[in-house]
Amino acid sequence: MHNGKARAFTNIALIKYWGKKDQQLILPMNSSLSLTLDAFYTETSVSFSKDYTQDLFYLDGELQDEKATQKVSRFLQLAREQAGIFEHALVYSQNFVPTAAGLASSASGLAALAGACNDALGLNLSTTELSRLARKGSGSACRSIYGGFVEWKKGHSDQSSYALPMASNHWEDDLAMIFILINDKAKKVSSRNGMQQTVETSLYYDDWLKAADADIKKAQEAIENHDFHALGQVTETNCLKMHATTLAASPPFTYWTPDSLKAMNKVYAMRDAGQDCYFTMDAGPNVKVLCQKKDSQKIYEELQKEFPEQQLVMAYAGKGVESLETEVAK
Ligand code: ADP
Ligand code: DP6
Repeated sequence: MHNGKARAFTNIALIKYWGKKDQQLILPMNSSLSLTLDAFYTETSVSFSKDYTQDLFYLDGELQDEKATQKVSRFLQLAREQAGIFEHALVYSQNFVPTAAGLASSASGLAALAGACNDALGLNLSTTELSRLARKGSGSACRSIYGGFVEWKKGHSDQSSYALPMASNHWEDDLAMIFILINDKAKKVSSRNGMQQTVETSLYYDDWLKAADADIKKAQEAIENHDFHALGQVTETNCLKMHATTLAASPPFTYWTPDSLKAMNKVYAMRDAGQDCYFTMDAGPNVKVLCQKKDSQKIYEELQKEFPEQQLVMAYAGKGVESLETEVAK
């Protein structure tokens, strides 16, 4: 029996990953940049044993069906090949984040699974190697290997595509992100399908790629200069450009709902009134508001007034993946 257990936090992209050039290896069309957060995370334990006759995947206490297990099995197979240990596994995972709701469960989920496999199979991977392995489970997961600001350099091959932490002099500790949970149910179009449909059919996709390259540079500069206004601006406009590609896809689709728009308009109004805050959204209706820690309580209270029915979650910068003590996987 080989056991391992790990915890990984979610990350939210400030400059989005949106499209793959290789779906098998999960090589992205563009580089992306994110902030790892402390509020949402996944804990996963895995045990490999020659006594098991198939891979079993429990999520939040529920045995998952064949389709959900297949995705995990595909990842386990990569880890098994890397270790040269070909035993079936029991995976037991707990999401402290709503699953498949645009709140980055795939990032924390697959990063935690990668960390647990690394420990269980004695792979002894460097963080770069672990980032490459996690990437093959879910692209955004490669960024959750690290805390703080992280850049996933797109690269051009399995070897050259991985995430790296960004030098920021701990500026991330001055920032906050407020999640407005507009809908935490699983979405209709997964990130994976949404981005593929966009790459294949969106009239605006080439322009998205040009914009993403320029936006990465702007975000790097903003982080270097600790320029919150510049980082907020590029975060918000990059998100809008990503979402614009889905409207120009065939068939067109959007992750926005009326409440998402209400939240965006509230951020605009707060900014007009002198508050320093910017929004971003992923593949789901939930809106995340980036602000500075010093303003975060006031902004939280104002958002709460606008969204009394919705749950709001305050998040600060989080850490990278960490090993946890293993007990025998339940
Ligand atoms: P999200 O916005 O939550 O990242 P995605 O559609 O991108 O939504 O990804 C959701 C998928 O990620 C799930 O359907 C599942 O395949 C995978 N996933 C989520 N949590 C876990 C977990 N704890 N362990 C393994 N896979 C997970
Ligand atoms: C909009 O990493 O979930 O959140 O690689 O297919 O598993 P797969 O996709 P995933 O996509 C994340 C898309 C995004 C933007 C981002 O996190 O960069």
